[in-house]
Amino acid sequence: MKTIAVLTSGGDAPGMNAAIRAAVRTGCENNVKMLGIRRGFKGLMEGDMYEMNLRSVSDIIHRGGTMLYSARSTEFATEEGMAKAIEVCKANNIEGIVVIGGDGSFRGARDLSVRGINCVGVPGTIDNDIACSDYTIGYDTCLNTIMDMVDRIRDTTESHDRCSVVEVMGRRAGFLALNAGIAVGATSILIPEIEFNIERDIIDRMRRTMKTDKKHFIIVVAEGITEKLEAQGINGVNALAKYIQHTLGVESRATVLGHVQRGGSPSVKDRVVGSQMGSYATHLLLNGVGNRVVAMKKEDIIDYDIVEALNMKKAIDRELYNTAMEISI
Ligand code: F6P
Repeated sequence: MKTIAVLTSGGDAPGMNAAIRAAVRTGCENNVKMLGIRRGFKGLMEGDMYEMNLRSVSDIIHRGGTMLYSARSTEFATEEGMAKAIEVCKANNIEGIVVIGGDGSFRGARDLSVRGINCVGVPGTIDNDIACSDYTIGYDTCLNTIMDMVDRIRDTTESHDRCSVVEVMGRRAGFLALNAGIAVGATSILIPEIEFNIERDIIDRMRRTMKTDKKHFIIVVAEGITEKLEAQGINGVNALAKYIQHTLGVESRATVLGHVQRGGSPSVKDRVVGSQMGSYATHLLLNGVGNRVVAMKKEDIIDYDIVEALNMKKAIDRELYNTAMEISI
């Protein structure tokens, strides 16, 4: 391969820069022309790219976000969008692309691969919801950010004998909520993968702990439970906090952590795994291998066929959830 491009797509994640850096430097060191595509598949369709060298990726390993910018493109999913992208690849002699992002980005990578552009996906999302991989770049940093933020919320919650309901990211997955919930000692954790009942899983648990003289409470919920919450007559986390206050007489507040969770300097783990995965992806392309997703299994970096990877399912650790419920009381 003579020309390989790199792009980041979907929600950004801390550690994406480490992956870009590794992918680019691996290519440069193997005498391949490396192109950086700005703003994901949108930039690919528009031909928004530039040649990168060893120094283009200096001074980024410690930065959050993505130096290549990111986007979510609906046009790219259309036949016209795909045709534009293929044309740009041909015009720029792009034979392979490292696609750093989540499931949606991998579907784009699969569609390009089918049309003859070798793509390798690198799992980058704070949600940790890529089924084929135990780990996705950005997850560890995000968990630590949530922990730090909720520790601060806990200070004021405790000072006022209150209950704080904290909504964390995760549209379809509860990995962030479950693990952060354990780390902050949340009395209740609500996630999309596990059925919940507000009376049983929040109100009754709080009542039990109040009998043991507990006076402040942290409830962690994943963003993805909104519909299930509505089905129980509660419209969002503010309404949930009001319901708790009304039912138990404990003054309650809700905090939606929002995009603060996606930023910040990447942790050691995200820098290291980002570097490993970025380099691995370029090596696959250098060997003429495409249509793959890089994954982490235990401590090993491996790869899967994209279609196979997209069909996999990742289960939440039920035992971990049970442990959380047993000890955070
Ligand atoms: O995919 C990562 C993620 O941060 C999700 O947790 C969240 O639901 C979504 O992206 C938010 O996307 P946006 O930044 O486009 O609002």
